[in-house]
Amino acid sequence: MVVTVDGPAGTGKSSASRLLARELGFAYLDTGALYRAIALAARRDGVEEAAESELAAWLAKVPLEAKPTDGRFLVLLDGQDVEPFIRNEAISQLASRLSALAPVREHLLGLQRSAGERGDLVAEGRDMGTVVFPRAEAKFFLTASEQERARRRWLQLGQSGQHVDPAEILADLRRRDQRDSGRSLSPLRPAGDATVLDTTPLSLSQVVATMARQVR
Ligand code: C5P
Repeated sequence: MVVTVDGPAGTGKSSASRLLARELGFAYLDTGALYRAIALAARRDGVEEAAESELAAWLAKVPLEAKPTDGRFLVLLDGQDVEPFIRNEAISQLASRLSALAPVREHLLGLQRSAGERGDLVAEGRDMGTVVFPRAEAKFFLTASEQERARRRWLQLGQSGQHVDPAEILADLRRRDQRDSGRSLSPLRPAGDATVLDTTPLSLSQVVATMARQVR
């Protein structure tokens, strides 16, 4: 069974999806981490500004892997866990910019779908319910007010020792949302059969409980 969780940045999708997967005994796939890993590799290899045809050739050689480990898929680049290097604003913006390009989306499609073939999965991202797993048995689209999303992102960054001006966080969220919703390929939008959940007034455990109930 595949459960999809989509929505804009800062809605708490990642935390909710991780906990939902644990509660259901499903594996968890964070597809944003795959786009972030591509951004990290592009920066490392100096191809951020490359033409699409050049990017396609480059992507074929990027040693990117989603490796099932302890109930979740670890994203590895050159066999190394990318997690410590991808949670910053520069990578967020570059991931958002590169994710609008066809070669990048096509490259990651197969990797994401093969994760779904390995067993029960909670897949989280922007286009899980619309494009990657259109036949998923349960689909959610999480939203929250802009202020609440900025507050959650601020708390999250603070926990990892990054102290960013809240106004800057809000501006970043707006820029990314606009780009993610306005692009022509796999734009951010709820699937027709997704349950839209406004998480503004809800605690994390309430969000997880609501989703788990519906999946069961
Ligand atoms: O979810 P996260 O904020 O980590 O995703 C980083 C960026 O990757 C998003 O802003 C979006 O542009 C892109 N993304 C995407 N499709 C997905 C997951 C992420 O385009 N399924």
